[in-house]
Amino acid sequence: MSNIPAFGLGTFRLQGQVVIDSVRNGLELGYRAIDTAQIYGNEAEVGEAIAASGVARDDLFLTTKIWVDHYSREKLIPSLKDSLHKLRTDAVDLTLIHWPAPNNGVSLDEFMSALAEAKQQGLTKQIGVSNFNIELTKQAIAVVGKDNIATNQIELSPYLQNRKLVDFLQQAGIHVTSYMTLAYGKVLGDPVIRAIAERRHATPAQVALAWALRLGYSVIPSSTKRENLASNLLAQTLELSDDDMAQIAALERNGREVSPEGLAAQWD
Ligand SMILES: NC(=O)c1ccc[n+]([C@@H]2O[C@H](COP(=O)([O-])OP(=O)(O)OC[C@H]3O[C@@H](n4cnc5c(N)ncnc54)[C@H](OP(=O)(O)O)[C@@H]3O)[C@@H](O)[C@H]2O)c1
Repeated sequence: MSNIPAFGLGTFRLQGQVVIDSVRNGLELGYRAIDTAQIYGNEAEVGEAIAASGVARDDLFLTTKIWVDHYSREKLIPSLKDSLHKLRTDAVDLTLIHWPAPNNGVSLDEFMSALAEAKQQGLTKQIGVSNFNIELTKQAIAVVGKDNIATNQIELSPYLQNRKLVDFLQQAGIHVTSYMTLAYGKVLGDPVIRAIAERRHATPAQVALAWALRLGYSVIPSSTKRENLASNLLAQTLELSDDDMAQIAALERNGREVSPEGLAAQWD
């Protein structure tokens, strides 16, 4: 059984003092899970902000992601050790393969085996994948077993609900983490979401996050603003009705925001 916190703090795009402030604010407000990645170029700043916060390491859940240049057997574990050094910890809680990157010269078998080895060595408590479609998740399961895949972190918002993949993951017992739940802010202007927010005396961001939480997904919204970080966290206490959920379900529009060339697979 995987153990992934329902609510975390995203750090994509945030650099330097901006990410330090965001992590400091987040920790002060009660966030205890932080999502970073080697490619975000901010692991050292995340580590610095955590160290300065005084929050005990045991109370935190740290996720990082292996970048595609480090997928080979020789590079994956050394690159994770470098991440641990930057994050100032002996082990992270979760390490993900960031993108499937099917043509980068390293087989899925090789990088999944190396990731499993990192777990065996105690460098990461759990392992998982990100941006994997059904077929690629099946291949990853074939290498490490489904009990070894704690989550698949995927783009998932009211505009891109990824239902086929979610059904597959839930049947396999693999936890779903929704990234860009706010579609990088795009769903916040949606009239349906705004109407629900008004009725519930909530913000549109809280509505989108509460929708994802009610479906059982973890969320990791990011913000550079302390007030947004604070109000987003309160999505955990917002209860949406079945009718609200049905209205949001109808917003699906295959609205994919991220699809880096050469790295991404087609969604199902
Ligand atoms: N695995 C992957 O490949 C992958 C890819 C993308 C992202 N991620 C992870 O997922 C996290 C979340 O994605 P994201 O940061 O790209 O997008 P997001 O969380 O969907 O949206 C962030 C944007 O929404 C705004 N925002 C946040 N809360 C708001 C609020 N309450 N009211 C109004 N605006 C609000 C932020 O602006 P302000 O700063 O102005 O608040 C920012 O522009 C990332 O940080 C990263 O950790 C993973």
